[in-house]
Amino acid sequence: MTLDNAATSALLHDLEPVVEANLNRHLATAKEWFPHEYVPWSRGRDFDGVLGGQSWEPGQSALSEVARTSLIVNLLTEDNLPSYHHEIAAMFGRDGAWGTWIHRWTAEEGRHGTAIRDYLLTTRAVDPVALERARMTHMSTGFTSAYDGSVLHSIAYVSFQELATRVAHRNTGRSSGDPLCEQLLARIALDENLHMIFYRALLGAAFELAPDPTMRAVYDVVRTFQMPGHGIENFGRKSVQIAMAGIYDLRIHHDEVVGPVLRNLNVFDRGGLSGDGERAREELAAFLADLDRSASRFTQRREAARSRVGHPTKAVGAH
Ligand SMILES: [Fe+2]
Ligand SMILES: [Fe+2]
Repeated sequence: MTLDNAATSALLHDLEPVVEANLNRHLATAKEWFPHEYVPWSRGRDFDGVLGGQSWEPGQSALSEVARTSLIVNLLTEDNLPSYHHEIAAMFGRDGAWGTWIHRWTAEEGRHGTAIRDYLLTTRAVDPVALERARMTHMSTGFTSAYDGSVLHSIAYVSFQELATRVAHRNTGRSSGDPLCEQLLARIALDENLHMIFYRALLGAAFELAPDPTMRAVYDVVRTFQMPGHGIENFGRKSVQIAMAGIYDLRIHHDEVVGPVLRNLNVFDRGGLSGDGERAREELAAFLADLDRSASRFTQRREAARSRVGHPTKAVGAH
């Protein structure tokens, strides 16, 4: 069930006061910060090439392989901002409070890529040539909303996506072992949290205005959710590495991303649903139970793999 054009225009119009109120709350809450303050510039030096400096080698940084992978995924995800801006500006419009929010959100997101790239290059954490090539490839692919221009699906998607991004940044920072990296990613995660709060408030208002289609949209989005960076080259392999390290896995997705948003919106106890909305809620409950089981299976498999690594004799015996 998606809204037709007239219903979509009416919904955008009805949501505008909510956008305005939450934009004002956001502006009063968000603290100004400066990416340059988080980057250890004194550790930087010229690279080879035009300036004839030192070429990059993996040993120049103590970061683990998986921390590097996760930082690259997070950065490439942020890099695709022009496509995200295009998608949401085309859907929500750039007039009035919607437009003010979209431009403000874009400006805040723009800091994230700048700050992470400056950190990675200054500390020589990743191969700068491979990083630039990956950025070109990724941005050349762009990003298209999976929900065919549906405003409700998009509001639902960004509510989960901003929280997922928050958790991914925070856990990447923690896993890095570098307090400066952790400090930077914690600061970015704070921004993502405020973005989630903004979009979640809109989703709550949508539940009031159009309960059944909103419930259907939430179910569709939870069922098909993919991280915004899913178009990154070798994303599947990278996300397995990230999940194996416990930075972002199904358990985290279920417990720390999907669950909290649904609970905050009182999705399983709210009234006002009928017909298709009720059906979508039942399907959502069944899907979540499934997701929970898959998350437990993954965690068990990971623990088994870890204990094999921790006990080499067993690992040999397993062959
Ligand atoms: Fe971001
Ligand atoms: Fe964000």
